[in-house]
Amino acid sequence: MPVVLGIETSCDETGVGIVADGVLLGDALATSMDEHARFGGVVPEIAARAHLHAVAPMVRHALDRAGIGFGDIDAVAATAGPGLATAVQVGLAAGKAYALTLNVPLYGVHHLAGHAAVDTLEHGPLPARCAALIVSGGHTSLLLIGDLARDPVVHLGDTVDDAAGEAFDKVARLLGLPYPGGPAIDQAARAGDPAAITFPRPMTGPHDPPYQFSFSGLKTAVARWIEKHGDQPVPVADVAASFQEAVADTLTRKALAACRHHQADTLLLVGGVAANTRVRHLAEQRCAAAGVRLRVPSPRLCTDNGAMIATLGDLLIRNDITPDRLDLRADPSATLHGALLHGPR
Ligand code: KG4
Ligand code: ZN
Repeated sequence: MPVVLGIETSCDETGVGIVADGVLLGDALATSMDEHARFGGVVPEIAARAHLHAVAPMVRHALDRAGIGFGDIDAVAATAGPGLATAVQVGLAAGKAYALTLNVPLYGVHHLAGHAAVDTLEHGPLPARCAALIVSGGHTSLLLIGDLARDPVVHLGDTVDDAAGEAFDKVARLLGLPYPGGPAIDQAARAGDPAAITFPRPMTGPHDPPYQFSFSGLKTAVARWIEKHGDQPVPVADVAASFQEAVADTLTRKALAACRHHQADTLLLVGGVAANTRVRHLAEQRCAAAGVRLRVPSPRLCTDNGAMIATLGDLLIRNDITPDRLDLRADPSATLHGALLHGPR
């Protein structure tokens, strides 16, 4: 079985994974998160420089964990977009260099397709067709996915402004919580009352587009609420829990409506925000009530990692998909059409 080396550098995580035949042999992750924390968000140049330092050691680490050497690698997959331009370039250039020196094929893959693919590591092959909600720091999309290696992805709706993770990060800042905001809000919300404040459920009205999202108004609603209560100390836990409830409710409501209307009996919930405790619980409850099978990766595989890119590469090679040429270009703002950035072929 071919062994695939996957490299992920689209944001602040340098992730390397090694996958063969749907099995994760080893992985390694370095993050420059702490270096960005004092700026309140990812600084692209800092992220790119950190990738440059971390990528080779992480490859070595992942190989060691898998108990294999460079000579055992049969293909390389690297994120070719979307993401921070300089950050993506570093990982893609590394991927090209490994592919060239090892004389193995290269796949330049779509980061978001990687988020979807990683679920197969824990839960086996995807069904012939499913609805997928990809919720990350840069994207929020409701999709219909068929054969991930071959079929084009159908977009039911995307966010018209902020992504769900972006909203978590911005609201965390308003609350004085550290970057990245998602885990900080998740943690703070545990001590809070999700019914304390009724924040809006954006774009859920009867005349709103059913599968599109908008989180910038929700963030503003939180900001206004905090402003109005300026004289008193902000009840951080209650605001965090109530905001988180509004996001979880909105995401799961729309995802289940999509399952219902498109006769999808499986919902795939992936991306960094799928690590959120409340989003996971509410999705479980609502899927169970609707008779929909929920597939959601373990939290550590929801956030960016190298295993997801290796898994996607493994899926491509096992489906005999033609690899990319070594002059393939990164596209930092690539829309998700399929597994390959410049596909489907
Ligand atoms: O998928 P991801 O790791 O990177 C992108 O592709 O963007 O997602 C990162 C986003 C960040 O906005 C982060 O705050 C959010 O996912 N996130 C969470 C949680 N863990 C990460 N949001 C809510 N709850 C969490 N537990
Ligand atoms: Zn991601």
